[in-house]
Amino acid sequence: MTAPSKAPVSPSAAQGTTGLFRRKSVTALQAEAAGDHRLKRALGPLNLTALGIGAIIGTGIFVLTGTVAAQNAGPAVVLSFVLAGIASIFAALCYSEFASLVPMAGSAYTYSYATLGEFIAWIIGWDLVLEYALSATTVAIGWSGYIVSFLKDFGIHIPAAWQAARGTVVTLADGTTATALFNLPAVLIIAIVTTLLVVGIKESASVNNVIVFIKLAVVILFIVLAAPHVNPDNWQPFIPPNTGDREHFGFSGVVAGAAIVFFAYIGFDAVSTAAQEAKNPQRDMPIGIIGSLIICTILYIVVAAIATGVMPYNQLDVPDPIARVADYAGLGIFSSLIKLGAIAGLTSVILVQLLGQSRVFYSMSRDGLLPPFVQKIHPRFRTPYITSIVTGLAVAIPAAILPVRDAAKLVSIGTLLAFVIVCTGVLILRIREPNLPRPFKVPFIWFVAPAGALSAAYLMFYLDLQTWVRLLIWLAIGLAIYFLYSRTHSNLSSRGQA
Ligand code: ALA
Repeated sequence: MTAPSKAPVSPSAAQGTTGLFRRKSVTALQAEAAGDHRLKRALGPLNLTALGIGAIIGTGIFVLTGTVAAQNAGPAVVLSFVLAGIASIFAALCYSEFASLVPMAGSAYTYSYATLGEFIAWIIGWDLVLEYALSATTVAIGWSGYIVSFLKDFGIHIPAAWQAARGTVVTLADGTTATALFNLPAVLIIAIVTTLLVVGIKESASVNNVIVFIKLAVVILFIVLAAPHVNPDNWQPFIPPNTGDREHFGFSGVVAGAAIVFFAYIGFDAVSTAAQEAKNPQRDMPIGIIGSLIICTILYIVVAAIATGVMPYNQLDVPDPIARVADYAGLGIFSSLIKLGAIAGLTSVILVQLLGQSRVFYSMSRDGLLPPFVQKIHPRFRTPYITSIVTGLAVAIPAAILPVRDAAKLVSIGTLLAFVIVCTGVLILRIREPNLPRPFKVPFIWFVAPAGALSAAYLMFYLDLQTWVRLLIWLAIGLAIYFLYSRTHSNLSSRGQA
């Protein structure tokens, strides 16, 4: 990235229609991608898969498995993971077709600009902020749970008031309880990662590979060491009876649980935001996206089965459930190792999410939908430092005050909405421009794309009213910005397309 600029708009760049639904042409996007050499093309298929796994495995498996088992699904959290995994794989196939066709930074935002028009692209770009920025928040909250617990192993106690969201009841070392005020460790980790991004940590695909290796090693060791301690009695009843509340157990609880653990799968599309840094995006993006998702789906299902098999599900609603399961199984020092692996692994997720966020903002600013300062590059570090700092501040505030479940639900609903739009978009583009060269084609598109959109919509439906209201407020703010700024500043508009 160098100086702030606008994306070159060829006379044919805007096509199709005018006003809200004006579109960029796919051919123009491809030309833009080919001509844009400012991001280095250094990532191969292995790096991309590692990037995906680095972004995917995080708070979902390390924290939400426990809370969803205890509050929504019981041992059937395994089924919740299966349902959410199916929805994600459909969407991943659609993302792959788009990512290979339009290999540009910006992910679903860029794809929808080419297919569904500027207005929908704006909505999705705005929606992606929920996905990337707020998942960094959610993961930071998970990180906090593990660091507090890890430090406790060494006799270092973070004051109860500062270790979780306001109102959270914290159990102290002597067994008594206290109420927390705000989550200081979550804020600190965001400050640290933001600093790393400002000084240019993104160069380091090799550090990411090491962290991914540690994270995978911890998860696989957990599976191998804890499996012999499974007591099948703990899987009975597999689906505890519904309590009268839709979210609490029974089949509806399992689906509500799927909508929450869906968070665990978020991240594979971060691979698509690195399209401009891939050596051979046409071939390698689908490998990175689908490969990382399949590996994680298998690991999640096995980890969830073992966690609920070792420890009664109603005891799993703690900030560090996987480490607790290891303790419960008597794995001794390994419990501290899990915490260490989780701490390193979650840090890399926060990094990838915040990086993805700055890329989406960067793309939106290049299209004129956000002010040019978003692309401002630090003279020494050569990073988009203003975006990183503003995002860091915005992400730290909810990290201090939100409980992990609330944050995860909001990220899930935002991402599910993005999935609905991407799955619909890929189908629309097949109909509208059937002859575009598609290096990766979704197999059975007439089944996969509608199934992806419908399964994502189905999971959204099971999220609670409060989450829906928060999503609608967020979208209303986005619409205000679009009509007050972006619509008139868009590159397409300055070309007289409005
Ligand atoms: N999938 C990522 C996680 O679980 C966001 O932390």
